[in-house]
Amino acid sequence: MVGTDSLPRMSDRPRLSVIGTGYLGATHAVCMAELGFEVLGVDVLEDKVALLQSGQVPFFEPGLPELLRKSLDSGRLRFTTSYEQAGEFGDVHFLCVGTPQKKGEMAADLTYVDAAFTSLVPHLRDGALVVGKSTVPAGTAERLSALLQETATARDVELAWNPEFLREGFAVEDTLRPDRLVFGVQSASAEAGLRAAYAPVIGTPTPVVVTDLATAQLVKVAANAFLATKISFINAMAEVCEATGGDVTLLSKALSYDSRIGGRFLNAGLGFGGGCLPKDIRAFMARAGELGVDQALSFLKEVDAINLRRRARMVDLAREELEGSFGGMRVAVLGAAFKPNSDDIRDSPALEVATAIQKQGAAVCVYDPAAMANARIAYPELGYRNSALSAAQGADLVLHLTEWDEFRAMDPAALSAVVAAKRIVDGRNVLDPAQWRAAGWTYRALGRP
Ligand code: UDX
Repeated sequence: MVGTDSLPRMSDRPRLSVIGTGYLGATHAVCMAELGFEVLGVDVLEDKVALLQSGQVPFFEPGLPELLRKSLDSGRLRFTTSYEQAGEFGDVHFLCVGTPQKKGEMAADLTYVDAAFTSLVPHLRDGALVVGKSTVPAGTAERLSALLQETATARDVELAWNPEFLREGFAVEDTLRPDRLVFGVQSASAEAGLRAAYAPVIGTPTPVVVTDLATAQLVKVAANAFLATKISFINAMAEVCEATGGDVTLLSKALSYDSRIGGRFLNAGLGFGGGCLPKDIRAFMARAGELGVDQALSFLKEVDAINLRRRARMVDLAREELEGSFGGMRVAVLGAAFKPNSDDIRDSPALEVATAIQKQGAAVCVYDPAAMANARIAYPELGYRNSALSAAQGADLVLHLTEWDEFRAMDPAALSAVVAAKRIVDGRNVLDPAQWRAAGWTYRALGRP
């Protein structure tokens, strides 16, 4: 614990550096500038820094490009590749680099966190606060805090942890109006620094939960484990519905009116993907094993397994629709992003299904409103078309795998005119079966008759 009396006071409006300008960091930097702070975004990738500095966001996030240009025009936001400048500039430094899953392992790869941290520390000014936002395994913050005290040349520097809870597609809203802030701190001065850095959003009505470092790191992974469990719970019920003739969408609706359960994250379908939920539950299990509490999290193994089984079930359902074989068939896949309003294809259920079907002999044509460029690079073996109609041209089967509004609003009659056979499988349970059946389609979905 660092004593508070001797510390220099954090100014009312600290200057902020944001290290790592990926999805989390770029959004955080832009939104903090929007809230009135002077912000310096830091990244080791020169191209990314140049792109952001020129007002372009390198990924799809609704509302962010407009706010980026506004913040650049205001002069409050700049980007750099220089840690020296960051150290000189910032009172509070947010670490926002990625922690992907290690190749061939369940654990998180901390290479970027460690590199960013060790690059920044020698340049810190006296009294600086380093704030981790990246999702990390338990114990990381304590290790970095000790390293900071050992290696920093500046006086009275400290580490705090402040996990992020951004949802892709709503990242701006989630940063400007978070539903809660968690401050993992070791001293009153670190708490004061964080309160100053978030002053415009605290109490609006965003509550602050002040914790120790250990709890703050856990909040993020516990939240994602809970969300993943909720999704896998309803998908497990979908499996049971398939065996009993029940309808999981009605089951979910009936459950949702119980306010103790609630309806959010209770949509059955192809399950969760993306850059967070799958890798976070795996890293959580791996860390629990190291800590000797693997039994406490063994249920997450089943959560993961249920989730992956939905993908396999989708492939089976598609094959059933084609009378047992994909050979020589044309399959249209609507959706490539792991969820709508995103161009992110990391661990995308839609693309995993598309690839499996293509490998089993079908010609697959994919269309997605935002993720085509990313999908083409990662899955060059799949076919791509520039609209839902053109992907469905001559299709023996249409698969709806990511629930973009554009697909929800599709007119079955328009698609009827171009397909070879009117068969659709709804992997997200959002299309209206009555409407499709009335238009002469065979409609199938996961977890319902
Ligand atoms: C998630 C967390 O929500 C966020 O708080 C955290 O910071 C990062 O991870 P994100 O990955 O952007 O955010 O996506 P989210 O909206 O949580 O959806 C995750 C996946 O679950 C998507 O693939 C989505 O399609 C799926 N999902 C979600 C369902 O299958 N059913 C649901 O009811 C809800």
